[in-house]
Amino acid sequence: MSAPPERGPTRTYSGEAIEVHWEPRLCIHVQNCVRNLPQVFKAGERPWIVIDGAGADAVAATVEQCPTGALHYRRLDGGPQEQAPDETVVDPRPDGPLFVRGRLRIVGDEGGVIREDTRVALCRCGGSANKPFCDGTHRRIGFTTG
Ligand code: SF4
Ligand code: FES
Repeated sequence: MSAPPERGPTRTYSGEAIEVHWEPRLCIHVQNCVRNLPQVFKAGERPWIVIDGAGADAVAATVEQCPTGALHYRRLDGGPQEQAPDETVVDPRPDGPLFVRGRLRIVGDEGGVIREDTRVALCRCGGSANKPFCDGTHRRIGFTTG
C-alpha cells in the first residue's frame, strides 16, 4: 500500500455552514479568491479569511476557482461538496505554471502518491522549491514562456 498523500500544514476557518482549509505551501498568491469574494478573502488581514462574510454557496464557488488546490472546503450545512470534473484540463499560464484540473493523482519518484486533488499548479520554470508544485518562484526569476 502506498503512503497517504502528503498534506502540508493546513489552517482551517470554520463557520456554521462551511469550513475552509488553506494550505499555505501551495498558495502562490494569484489572488483569484481575493478578487472574486473580497468580503471573505482579505489579503493582508488577520485572519485573512472571514468565513461568514458571504453565504456558503459563494464561498464554495470561490474556493473551487483556486487554481493551485491551496483552498478546499467542507460543507457543514448539507450543501454539495466539491466534485472532481470528468475531464482533465491543462492550462499553461503565460510566464507561469501549468494549471491542471481533473481527478488528479500525483505520484513521486518511487511511485507513491504524493497528492490527490481536483486542482494543482505544476512548476514549469524548474525553480520551485516545492516541486512538482509551483511555489511562485517563476515570478522572482523572471521566467518567460515567450
Ligand atoms: S486563489 Fe488560491 S492560490 Fe490564489 S491567493 Fe487564493 S488561496 Fe492562494
Ligand atoms: S512555474 Fe511557478 S515556481 Fe516554477
